[in-house]
Order: sequence, then C-alpha cells, then structure tokens
Amino acid sequence: MSAGNETREHWSGPVGFVLAAVGSAVGLGNVWKFPYITGINGGGAFVLVYLGCIAVVGLPLLIAEMSIGRRSQKEPVGAFSSLAHAGRGGKLWGIFGWLAVVTAFLLLSFYSVVGGWTIGYFIKAVSGTFTPEAAASSGEIFDTFVSDPVQSTIYHAIFMAACIGVVLGGVSRGIERAARVLMPVFAVLLLVLLGYSLTLDGAGEALRFMFYPDFSKLTPAAVLEALGHSFFTLSLGMGVMIVYGSYLSKQDSVFKSGLAVSIADTLIALAAGVTIFGIVFSAGKEPGSGAGLVFITLPSLFAQLPAGSLWAAIFFLLLGFAALTSGMSILEVAVAYFVDERGKSRKVATLTFGGIIFALGLLSVLSFSVLSDVHLMTVGQGDELKDLTVFDTLDYLISNWALTLGGLGVALYAGWGVSRDDLWDELKDDALGKAGFAGWFLITRFVAPVAVILVLLHSVGVV
Ligand code: PFF
Ligand code: NA
Repeated sequence: MSAGNETREHWSGPVGFVLAAVGSAVGLGNVWKFPYITGINGGGAFVLVYLGCIAVVGLPLLIAEMSIGRRSQKEPVGAFSSLAHAGRGGKLWGIFGWLAVVTAFLLLSFYSVVGGWTIGYFIKAVSGTFTPEAAASSGEIFDTFVSDPVQSTIYHAIFMAACIGVVLGGVSRGIERAARVLMPVFAVLLLVLLGYSLTLDGAGEALRFMFYPDFSKLTPAAVLEALGHSFFTLSLGMGVMIVYGSYLSKQDSVFKSGLAVSIADTLIALAAGVTIFGIVFSAGKEPGSGAGLVFITLPSLFAQLPAGSLWAAIFFLLLGFAALTSGMSILEVAVAYFVDERGKSRKVATLTFGGIIFALGLLSVLSFSVLSDVHLMTVGQGDELKDLTVFDTLDYLISNWALTLGGLGVALYAGWGVSRDDLWDELKDDALGKAGFAGWFLITRFVAPVAVILVLLHSVGVV
C-alpha cells in the first residue's frame, strides 16, 4: 500500500514547490489559449472578468486543492476519500479522484501533440522557414505540417519522452529541478519578446485592447468562458495541485504559495497577450483570428519582421518550455496514483503510463491526417454546427466538462465533505488569518459550486 509519510518524497522547500506549481499552471493556456479567447471576446472587458474569476473562484480552489493535498499527503484518489468527515460521503468522494486520473491520461494525450507542434515550429524557425516570401502561406505550412502523420508522431514522441524523462527523476530531483531551470529561462524569453513587442507600432493599441474595457462587447457566454478558462489555466480540477500539495511539508504556506502561483500565472497570461497583440496590431491585423492565432497568424507576422526567424524561434522555444512543465505535471497525476495506491515503482509506472498516453495520443496526431474524417460528435447550434475529430472531442470534453466537474468536486469536497475544523487545523498557521479563512471557506462552500454549476449548465446549452 501507500508509502508512509517518512518515505514520501517532498519538495526541497517552498521555492521549489512554487516553481513547480507555476510550471504546471503556466502553459499553452497562457500563451496560446488566453490570447486567442481574449481576441475573440473583444479584449478589455473579457480580461477584467477573467481577473475576477481568478481572484474569486480560481485562487480559492487552488488553495483548496493544495490544502487537501498537503493534509492527506496522498494522490487524488486517496486524498478524495481519506479526509471525508464521518457520514459525509466517505469513499464516494473517491469518484472525483478517479475522474482526475482518467482525465490526466486523456488530457496529456492531446496536450502532448500540441507540445510536439511547438518543437516542430521551433525547428522550422531555426531552419529559416519563416521568410518574408513564406508569410502568405503560413496556413498551408501549418496544414502540411499537422497532416504529415510521421512528423507529428515524432514530435509528439519527443515531447512525451521529455515528460517521461523528467517524471522518472521523481519529485525534487525530477520535476522540481526541471522547473528550476525551465521557468526562469521561460520568463527571460518572454520578457525579451515582450520588450521587443512594446517597441513596435502596435504596442499602444495592444495595451488599449487588453486593458480598456468595453462592456458592450461582453456576452454571458464570454463570462462563462472566462470562468472555465480560469480552471484550465491554474491546472485546477484535475488533481495536479492536490498531488503537488501532497509533496509539501506542513511548514510551507499553502496560502502564500497559492497566491504566488495565481499572480504569476495571471501576469504571464497578460504579458503573452500584450506581446502577441502588439505584433498583431503592428501588422494591421485583427485580434480575433481564433485558435490559429499562434500557429498560423503569428508565424506569418514573424516572417515579415526583421530578424523574424529569431523572434519566432524564441517564441516557440518559450511555448515549448511552458508546455513541458505543464505536461509533466499531468503525467505526475497518473504516476502518483499507480505509485501510491497500486504499489508500482516510479520507474515502472512512468514508463508504462507514459507509453500508454503516447499511444493514446496517436489518435490525436492522426486526427489531422488519416483520421480527419472520423467525427466523434457534433457541437453547436443552427448553422454553427461543428463536427469534432478525436482531437477536438478530447479538447472539448476535457476543457468544458472534465476540469469543471473536477473543480466542482474539489469545491464540494472542501466545502462539505471535509470538516471545517480539519481545514482550519490545516490552515491556521498559514498567513490567511481567521477572517481570511472564513472568507475562503464561504467561497469554497457556496460561491465556487454555484459558479461551476453555471459553467456546466452553459456547456449543455441551458444558460
Ligand atoms: N495550466 C495549464 C495551462 O495553462 O496550459 C494546462 C493544464 C495543466 C490544465 C495541468 C490542467 C492540468 F491539470
Ligand atoms: Na495557465
């Protein structure tokens, strides 16, 4: 059975934990998804709502996950049942732990495919693909790239191999060490790119677009999208922060760490948005180009800039680093389950389940070529119906359903399943204070579940 607390691996200290957690939080969600949904939803007002969602729901749930992890010293399946107050659901809560583990497999299988694209695009940039002559054909370049099953498989394999390599090293010597190297490099690269973007003509317009709220552009759907994205971006609802919290020892502050992680994640998303829109507006382009923003619009703009290959290389390298530190956190959820609950060695668990996730990911790789006509479901209404490939289906089910259901599980478990006294005992030495704790508990108990249920109802088209 599970290893006792004495043998359980821990972070080397609070800094290592925060870096690893920031590494998980900062990913494709910040650099790719946040800018493109901000672009689609009209900028400033959406950003403001997003900031509200992070502060009011995201941060409290992040603290809840970290506390549940630190208190239980267990991975999600164990954590979700072992703390339940007598007579309040007991082992049934474990269902949310299971959901987390299953979600981890599915999420990483396609996250890794996109992670692989960043490697492919980095190599393209370095080898000088993005010349001014190529600027007009960035859409074709992308289509040709993703529809080549061999290439995409190789890059997906490289990305998974990197995740596996890190997770094999364990908590402090694997995950923490990788985050200590990758995250500072990421931050420097982003600052360089941000600095460059701020010198371009479009910088002022980018800042106005991101920070000047025009509420006439805000729709109810956008509010719910902002809330859903606040889960994705903070790696909530999938047990990552439970597992990472479980490697914390009691003297490290959950509250301060959670605050640091959510601030870092938010600043990085904003910086990525300003950087990308600065480039977009400088070229006189529209911000709402959607999911192709990073792999199609941006390369074509880089291609027209002086030293464009260099900027493109920097961009895809930083995107790859961000994706890697998130990918490894997802793999760790699956691995921790098999190590803690099934008595597997870390080596066997990592290689086996990393391999299975790689194999599952092939379905997503092939969604852009051999399997492009295989549609698993159709979403949307009226004229806006969209047939979803395997890749699209996984993205849809996980971003819209699994993470929000998981987030609901965390809120309900912390708010109703675990006793308030236990939580207070866990957090009383934290910087939160008595009033802060009471506020946090109220949000976790009432506000967060209601918000999550609204998102879920929106996903089925009820609101
Ligand atoms: N937080 C990551 C991002 O913003 O890209 C994505 C993610 C990682 C979501 C881990 C969920 C997760 F468990
Ligand atoms: Na994020």
